[in-house]
Amino acid sequence: MDSKQQENNKGVRYIPGTKYFVYTMLLILCASLCFGCTSPESETETPTETEEPAETETPTETEQEPVSEAETETPTETPETEAGPGATGEEIQAYVMEENNYKNWELWPGTGELDPGKGPHGDQITIYVSDSALSAIEEKPGVMPENSTVLKEGYNSEGELIAVVVMHKVEGFDPEHNDWFWLEYDAEGEIIAEGKVLSCYNCHARQAVNDYLFTGDIE
Ligand code: HEC
Repeated sequence: MDSKQQENNKGVRYIPGTKYFVYTMLLILCASLCFGCTSPESETETPTETEEPAETETPTETEQEPVSEAETETPTETPETEAGPGATGEEIQAYVMEENNYKNWELWPGTGELDPGKGPHGDQITIYVSDSALSAIEEKPGVMPENSTVLKEGYNSEGELIAVVVMHKVEGFDPEHNDWFWLEYDAEGEIIAEGKVLSCYNCHARQAVNDYLFTGDIE
């Protein structure tokens, strides 16, 4: 019995120690829970904060949607812009003078600078062809493709530039006359004639079978 009591006593003696230990652990747990409680609170506060930005994000998303729509609209517009200038004299003039500067083009194959002119365009002429016009001259498809450009500088006998004439092909612009946009501007860049110019295509109509072009065969 004594030994059992001693064992119990020992057990009892141990219990307070264990209790303190348990209490300490509970305190630590409580403390950590409390900290845990405060931190989730701050976390739950954060979501409400992030919810608010999320709301502000939603408008930006709806803003982005029109942007993506505009982006999808842009590609449909881009091929037109990439294809070349719009059907106005100003745009075509800007195109041949800046965007796709004709001074960088090839001369019509077989012609030279300041060749003698046969038509009304000057005593001396220089004819430049854009890349697609050049391939048409080489491949002879019969008609030049859309966005082809042929440009001619006309000089007087003294070698002074008097006028620049341009034939630029715009799909659907004038199907009756092979869609050529006709443009003429003077040495100062002042536009003299543009568009479906009767006088231009009436004379060039002699060459209607050759896509209205005089200088060389493209068929
Ligand atoms: C009276 C006839 C006549 C008229 C009008 C005329 N052209 Fe021409 N054009 C020619 C002839 C001929 C050539 C061949 C090159 C040369 O001798 O000048 C030519 C050449 C051209 C060329 C070089 C490509 C080609 O066909 O050989 C262009 C570009 C051009 N003309 C644009 C015009 C424009 C733009 C107009 C109107 C503003 C116009 N032409 C009015 C007769 C004419």
